[in-house]
Formats: sequence, C-alpha cells, structure tokens
Amino acid sequence: MTRFRKSVRPEEVKRELAPGQSPELLKALHLLDRTGKLHADSRRKLKQVNHLVRLLTPALDDMFERHPEPVIVDAAAGNAYLGFILYELFLALAGKGSMVAVEPRADLAERTAERATSLGYERLRVLCSSLSSAALPDRVHMLVALHACDTATDDALVTAIERGADHVAVVPCCQAEVAKQLSGKEDDADPALAPLWRHRWHRREFGAHLTNVIRSLVLEAYGYQVTVTELTGWEHSLKNELILGRRVHRENRRARRQLEDLLARIPFARPSIVRALKVG
Ligand SMILES: C[S@@+](CC[C@H](N)C(=O)[O-])C[C@H]1O[C@@H](n2cnc3c(N)ncnc32)[C@H](O)[C@@H]1O
Repeated sequence: MTRFRKSVRPEEVKRELAPGQSPELLKALHLLDRTGKLHADSRRKLKQVNHLVRLLTPALDDMFERHPEPVIVDAAAGNAYLGFILYELFLALAGKGSMVAVEPRADLAERTAERATSLGYERLRVLCSSLSSAALPDRVHMLVALHACDTATDDALVTAIERGADHVAVVPCCQAEVAKQLSGKEDDADPALAPLWRHRWHRREFGAHLTNVIRSLVLEAYGYQVTVTELTGWEHSLKNELILGRRVHRENRRARRQLEDLLARIPFARPSIVRALKVG
C-alpha cells in the first residue's frame, strides 16, 4: 500500500505503461503531470484501466475480427480514461471502429469532447446524457462500464443487452438500491434467509452481492457466457468485481429459470435491471 502513496518519476513511468501506450495521451488526460510524473491517485486509476484493457484484449480482438466498423460504448465515462486508452491502443491502430462515451455531467462531457478534438480522435464522440436516454446506435458491439454509480451499472447492462453487444464488461460501483429494498423486510422474509441481511453491514454487503449475482444471471438469461473475477488487487480499488459477458446464444432458459427462482425467494429484491427488462 505504501508503494502506492508515492509518485513515480518520469524516468520510471515507462514501467507503468501498456505496450503501445504513449505518455502524450496520459499527459493530455492529466494522468501524468506536465513534467511527466505519475501521482499516486493517477497511478491507481492507470493500473485499473490498463489491467481491464489487458483482460478485454481477447474480446477486442474478436470484435475487430468479426465487424468491419465496430462500435464501443464507454458507459458512465467520467473523464473517459478507458475510452481514450482503448482508442489509442485498438481503434487508432486498427484504423476502424468508433467509440461513444456517455456521460451526463456537462463539464466532464465537454472536457472529453475537447480532448478528443485536440488529440485528433475523430471517431471518439461524446453523448452528454444519462444511459437510459442516450441516442446510441441501435447496434453496439462492446460496452464497458468502469465504476458506473449505483444503478448506472444496471442501465449499462440494459443498454448492452438491448443493443445486442457481443461483449460487455462492467466493474460495478457501490450498490445501495437493494440494501434499501431489504431494510425492514426481515419479518416478511423466509426465516432461513432473513439473517443474511439483519445487520446493517450485512445488508449493504449482501445487497450489493445479490445485485451482482442477479446482474450476472440476467446476462446469462440473455445468452451471454459470464465470467466474474477480480479486476486488480484490493490495494488499487475496493470496487473490484469485474463481470464479463460474451454473447454466445440468443437466450438461456435454464439461467432465466434460476433467476426467476432466486427472485421468488427474495421478492423484495428488485434491482433496477430486473425492473427495466421486466424479468422475474
Ligand atoms: C465513479 S465515476 C466513474 C467514471 C469513469 N468510468 C472512471 O472509471 O473513471 C461514475 C460516473 O457515472 C456517471 N453516471 C452516473 N449516473 C449515470 C447514468 N445514469 N448514466 C450515465 N452515466 C452516469 C457519473 O456522472 C460519473 O461520471
């Protein structure tokens, strides 16, 4: 942990870069300062993004192989670090495909659009919008959502499913919705299950866990093969669960039944994704 409190001097920054990654882009994103130094917070962010990019490489290769003009969505983009880095390492290199960053905060969306223009990233555009009302193309090929707040992760998954994304990757942020739904429901619940969320701390953890289990089952029900894994070590981020989906079927009835059974056992838990897609 102490290692990550220190900044990295310009001559040592190379070690932190992904193959093909330029210090110029990282300076434009203010991840490196003007002197080329990498400060502790930026280093953590860069570690997460580069690690995610490494894990996504097989999916990106598959997408570029199969589609002449693939569309990638950076959902709840913030400063769109992930979108810019994917653009430099994949879209710019391939000379094809486009990136759409969706971010509702006008200041962040404007800054991202300005950066894209000054970097000459013509195929990166920004939609200043929430995900549920974003004017995205009908078909997208990959959707990524790094730390999309609370139910924005559900909106990202719904967008991916509705637009037939071949690949989806989400690293959920804190989840508070289901913990609230569970609160005060101990007496109405199956007595064998109620202790799972009786204590406030357990309710928060269980609510978040249950939400991610349901999100994964929903993806499976819509024909995605799902892998759930750790993004980086806990020392880099506490929000560390990575849900990867690759569409392999039109649907999966067994997963849908499992989802319905699970929702029936805890009927008060209805995360946003379930309501939006009317599953369960
Ligand atoms: C924790 S930040 C993560 C930003 C970026 N993905 C990253 O990892 O640096 C979460 C972002 O989600 C955006 N957001 C919140 N609700 C959203 C929604 N419904 N649709 C799209 N973006 C949303 C916020 O404005 C914020 O920029």
